[in-house]
Amino acid sequence: MSSDMYKEIILDYYKNPRNRGTMDSPDAKAKDSNPLCGDVVEMQLKFANDKVSDIKFNGDGCAISQASASMLTELVMGKTIEEVRKIDKSILLENLGSPNLGAVRIKCALLPLKVMKTAVYDYLGEKIAAEED
Ligand code: FES
Repeated sequence: MSSDMYKEIILDYYKNPRNRGTMDSPDAKAKDSNPLCGDVVEMQLKFANDKVSDIKFNGDGCAISQASASMLTELVMGKTIEEVRKIDKSILLENLGSPNLGAVRIKCALLPLKVMKTAVYDYLGEKIAAEED
């Protein structure tokens, strides 16, 4: 993919974000920031039958972090928790169109993945704790 095409994909998701917003009573949520710049990403998820039935992101940051968050919501929607656990950085970067972002930009692109995984693992931890009670 040419670098122009990758920039177009990022800009499209940045200008027309999919699944941006908040939801009432999410089953899981997490928020984190990039310590280098302070940009913030928040993720909220709902689950039904162990699948992601809804996901929303919110945040404030550079085009790459916000575009990556938006794209990640599309990758995650409808997936089982097991499938979500298998989404790694190579899958996200490939979907963003550039496995060759520089080190600083990679941190921007991967912040939403870290936030989403934190939310899912917190949810799983609470579920396991509740089952053991
Ligand atoms: Fe802050 Fe990209 S410059 S996340």
